[in-house]
Amino acid sequence: MPVIPLPVQLSALPEGSYRLTDASRVRFEEAALEGVAAYLGELLSVPTSPDEGDIVLTLEGDEPEGYALRASENGIRIGGGSPAGVFYGVQTLRQLVQENRTVEAVEIADAPRYAYRGAMLDVARHFFGVDDVKRYLDDIALLKLNHLHLHLTDDQGWRLQIDAWPELTGIGASTRVGGGGGGFYTKDDYREIVAYAASSFVTIVPEIDMPGHTNAALASYAELNTDGIAPEPYEGIEVGFSSLDSNKPLTYDFVRDVLTELADLTPGPYLHIGGDESLATTDADFLLFVRRAAEIAASLGKTVIGWHEMGRSRELPPGTIGHYWNFSDPREGNGEHALSFVEQGGQLIISPGDRAYLDMKYDESTELGLVWADGPTPVPDSYEWDPALIVPGVGEEHILGVEAPLWTETVTTIDEIEFMAFPRLACVAELGWSPRTDAPRHFEEIAQRLARLGGLWDALGVQYYRAPEVEWGGT
Ligand code: ACM
Repeated sequence: MPVIPLPVQLSALPEGSYRLTDASRVRFEEAALEGVAAYLGELLSVPTSPDEGDIVLTLEGDEPEGYALRASENGIRIGGGSPAGVFYGVQTLRQLVQENRTVEAVEIADAPRYAYRGAMLDVARHFFGVDDVKRYLDDIALLKLNHLHLHLTDDQGWRLQIDAWPELTGIGASTRVGGGGGGFYTKDDYREIVAYAASSFVTIVPEIDMPGHTNAALASYAELNTDGIAPEPYEGIEVGFSSLDSNKPLTYDFVRDVLTELADLTPGPYLHIGGDESLATTDADFLLFVRRAAEIAASLGKTVIGWHEMGRSRELPPGTIGHYWNFSDPREGNGEHALSFVEQGGQLIISPGDRAYLDMKYDESTELGLVWADGPTPVPDSYEWDPALIVPGVGEEHILGVEAPLWTETVTTIDEIEFMAFPRLACVAELGWSPRTDAPRHFEEIAQRLARLGGLWDALGVQYYRAPEVEWGGT
């Protein structure tokens, strides 16, 4: 039966199919499930009730994100270890409902491989408003992803209101790649995103990228610059030319103010502080900056995440998470930098650029996207890899999860986001959720299920790429 991510156990039952009718009702057995019931009721156009109904949602089992689903002609029952588990059962059910509003008899037991299953959206190179982010949240919830990492700042734009440093959004938010104006989230916008994400059991992971990738901040405040002169705002796509000054006391006032306001807005456990491609920072300055910035982030009660280059530091706060983004065959010491987080007691998020980067072109003819990460990345490449086999010395127990980042140098609309993300994000979502396989994965194992998911994407208006490796239905 076609479900993505593939459930742990799934068996067809020798019973009749369930049929959605005007008499169907969603019943929630615990008040804590009222929101999930309302969500399902709206998706299926079925009323909800705490008292009666043949689609039953309940809390049972002890895996918080796990669930059991049973469907037959008599009804449907989804029992989850928490409201999140029930929500994931609901996502499975959405994929099981056929066009004629029936669900074949089935029994499913399911739980995720990794605690962290993420997507990342770069809202700095191009800005995407609250409605676009909500749409992407809807898209990723279908795949049981539970983290959305927002890359909030970069050379080309600063996208979050910070009261103590108003020119970050006065000047720093005014630009984007290619020109034409920028944008930013007010604190209320950001809270709205966080709350909407929470309703889909998604944690927002905010990133302030430092000490490189900071031209927007440096352009906003001359005094942050070593020479006291603000650079011009930047609308190109080069990397590695900007740096905060590790030796200025003001730099750490800035970092503390920004991270304090961000932590106040962030109920989730993580603050991502970047650290990638700081090519304009000397080694000594990079190590000094990382030690002090990570210490500030940790002092705010948050778990620090940094791109793998931060592993150059051996003075990371306990439990700091490394975010690996080099290739699936690590080059130039990047594997060692990632391993350093594990050696310091942390875990890793795995996002190999040649597998999980959604901004890579699909093939040479794809108009959007880039190719620098051994690209293009055809859809099968996003499926045929194992997160536990990427970084030498880093095994399953050291991995917090996987994430598929979408950098937006060439991406300007939500339709383009969806086109670059899907179907590859569905492949990465399966690697993050479904059990590890002994044998290497083959794309044929997911191709037919992608075709089936394409039908649901069509119904939802998702602008996915009709990859030639999949026999899509419809027109
Ligand atoms: C990155 O792609 N520079 C994290």
